[in-house]
Amino acid sequence: MTLRFFSRTQRPAEPEPRGTVRIFIPKDAASVAVGADALAAGIGGAAAASAVPVDIVRTGSRGMLWLEPLVEIEIHGVRYGFGPIEPDALAALLNAGLLSADLKSLAAHPASLGPVDKLDYLARQTRLTFARCGIADPLSLDSYRTLGGWQGLERALTLAPPGIVDEVAKSGLRGRGGAGFPTGIKWKTVHDTAAEQKFVVCNADEGDSGTFADRMLMEGDPFLLIEGMTIAGLAVGATKGFIYVRSEYPHAIVALRGAISTARRAGLLGPDVAGSKRAFDLEVRTGAGAYVCGEETALLESLEGRRGIVRAKPPLPAHKGLFGKPTVINNVLSFAAVPFILSEGAKAYAEYGMGRSRGTMPIQLAGNIKHGGLFETPFGVTLGELVDDIGGGTASGRPVKAVQVGGPLGAYFPRALFDTPFDYEAFAARDGLIGHGGIVVFDDGADMARQARFAFEFCAIESCGKCTPCRIGSTRGAETIDKILAGAVLDDHLALVTDLCHTMKFGSLCALGGFTPYPVMSALLHFPQDFRRTPRLQAAE
Ligand SMILES: Cc1cc2nc3c(=O)[nH]c(=O)nc-3n(C[C@H](O)[C@H](O)[C@H](O)COP(=O)(O)O)c2cc1C
Ligand code: SF4
Repeated sequence: MTLRFFSRTQRPAEPEPRGTVRIFIPKDAASVAVGADALAAGIGGAAAASAVPVDIVRTGSRGMLWLEPLVEIEIHGVRYGFGPIEPDALAALLNAGLLSADLKSLAAHPASLGPVDKLDYLARQTRLTFARCGIADPLSLDSYRTLGGWQGLERALTLAPPGIVDEVAKSGLRGRGGAGFPTGIKWKTVHDTAAEQKFVVCNADEGDSGTFADRMLMEGDPFLLIEGMTIAGLAVGATKGFIYVRSEYPHAIVALRGAISTARRAGLLGPDVAGSKRAFDLEVRTGAGAYVCGEETALLESLEGRRGIVRAKPPLPAHKGLFGKPTVINNVLSFAAVPFILSEGAKAYAEYGMGRSRGTMPIQLAGNIKHGGLFETPFGVTLGELVDDIGGGTASGRPVKAVQVGGPLGAYFPRALFDTPFDYEAFAARDGLIGHGGIVVFDDGADMARQARFAFEFCAIESCGKCTPCRIGSTRGAETIDKILAGAVLDDHLALVTDLCHTMKFGSLCALGGFTPYPVMSALLHFPQDFRRTPRLQAAE
């Protein structure tokens, strides 16, 4: 068997013609939203007008969102950053010598950041999954190869399917979509289930508040997801995969479709993956954006063309999933971790992390935070380090009151719990969850009783309606908190909320109803003063 790949040694980047200035500007949705396209057009126009040869490379985002739009220029092999550069600040950057790559004069520009790789926020990360994001054109197959892409698939093609599954199991990888289920066990179940047709499905619904890592990866390094899913297909014996992306991610959808056709043309997808005589192909499907369609069985319903309603389990999707066939469903970040595991070995991945949380986690810092963005780090970093040290505290400059970790179903943690390490078990021990790694920060202006009401309201709006504790309980919960907010007898209504939470936690069919009690009860436990409206009102009178 001759595999069509490339040597393991990284090839040097194509040299630019002499005198060409290379400038990097992200085309990620977050940078485009703050003017990156106008910036690229402006630099292109200025270069054409002054006849300077400029190569503008549109990249993914580096994940430092407060610096977007970030402009980088390569001088003697080092990339120097400037940010944020809003379009109306471009003239000053051009005047400082951007097109002539005049390092001395550029260094004096007020938005000059110095060498980007040396910025503390990036230098402190361990980027295994996001290693390439923000570096190169995400749709350039050459760049992907040059930067080490396809090496995981190359190794996978030398292994028998159980060998691939074993490698993923030994790495300790757990699903990054929320539940933290061991990926190797899921793949083994699908591998061991006999069927003529099996599927691989990527959950790119990314509905959690404060999360954007899936989007950033799909826009910034789509070949990585393709490579991870292809490895999954080879491991379990599936020849077809679907990526289910929410429609609010139009840039990601374009990037994925472009990358899939490029990979197909290059023979890396299709009937003969990399000349191996083994088939695997992919399609992108768009969801309409219901939060519950991120739940794996509701997602399958939606993918089959029906309304997204949760299915009772068993059967597990690994036994009977898409169209009743054995199906691997994983989150974007779970698949994206796999190429590293295959190319560098399970041990190299498992060396990072703590306890049963192995490897790295792309953590997303959001909400009222000074340095919001993506921070990939081994498990074990504390919540306090993330919020105060890496995130720089609140954007408002006021004290942090609470952080919600793990999306809308995650608990609110007060400062007293900031010593909690980022680890599945450590969070569970404190009645919290890591979820998809999103952290939303609130300052002391937040009203936690209103946040508790919001949790019930969110559940009521997003509930698929299949089971009573969630469908009815969420509405009754919001009504009861309304009474508390209006100053009704506190103890009676708190007892009712607690009782409702108990029923939802233990009686709901899926985690939407089952986990809504986490934000509610954590708000009550850690911020009881916010629920005491009556005495406060009386005191004010
Ligand atoms: C209400 C609800 C929403 C969910 N949304 C997502 C989502 O947007 N993305 C995701 O990967 N998993 C989501 N999940 C978890 C999935 O059901 C499932 O556990 C996950 O896709 C499995 O992949 P993993 O093992 O790689 O994490 C959600 C679960 C629930 C209950
Ligand atoms: S808990 Fe809510 S979302 Fe989940 S199945 Fe029941 S009604 Fe549907």
